[in-house]
Amino acid sequence: MSIQFFAPRGPGNEMIRLPAALRRTVRWLPQIGDLFPDFRVETTMGDLNFWDWAEGSWIHLFSHPAANTPVCTTEMASIVALSDEWRAADVRHLALSGSPIDEQRAWHGDIAGLFGLEVDFPCAHDPGLHLSRLFGMMHEKSDSARPIRKSFVVDPAMRVAMLFEYPSFLGRNFEEVLRVIRALQLRAETGAATPADWQGGDMVIIPDNRPESEVIRQFGTGSERLLPYLRVAGES
Ligand code: BEZ
Repeated sequence: MSIQFFAPRGPGNEMIRLPAALRRTVRWLPQIGDLFPDFRVETTMGDLNFWDWAEGSWIHLFSHPAANTPVCTTEMASIVALSDEWRAADVRHLALSGSPIDEQRAWHGDIAGLFGLEVDFPCAHDPGLHLSRLFGMMHEKSDSARPIRKSFVVDPAMRVAMLFEYPSFLGRNFEEVLRVIRALQLRAETGAATPADWQGGDMVIIPDNRPESEVIRQFGTGSERLLPYLRVAGES
């Protein structure tokens, strides 16, 4: 008889039998709204406790497969190239990989030499990939030895605000990371939602029935109801 380590139930409280490969796999499945766990890591800029370091800022915590790999090299340079924008938006980055600190420091030297850009944020070493496994960054079918490219945006109260996953061979677009963090900040500040392809300054969606006076105060214009369920404000 096989024993399931955890026993999910269906709508009629019947036990759902898991495929054998999924049995005994109890893991945190990170979700939007979860409190991100605190942890301590060694980084290229010294040891840090995540909450002490992060609390009060918007955090982009991301995994990448390893130092001295081509796509990762371009990702690091691309983040640093946007340093002024991250600072203006109060965003801090923390990279995580299984590469030892001295290897990462030497690699940052290559990046500085090639791009003329100094990696100016902490890059952590995850020995044994325990944190990577806990945070769902190990996708064994893709690569059993190295993390995929997973990004968490964590809000100033340490809640997961957004998460996304890219395969190892596909570099992320950090203009997009900046765009979504700006949208999350707008949501936190005003309660507005953002339409598809929104960029800073574009019109926003008012997802509730707040008074028109409040819309004018927040966005400088009145709102328009384009459909009974679609109310917009701001530049169009
Ligand atoms: C890269 O960064 O280029 C890479 C790393 C691991 C697997 C595939 C690509």
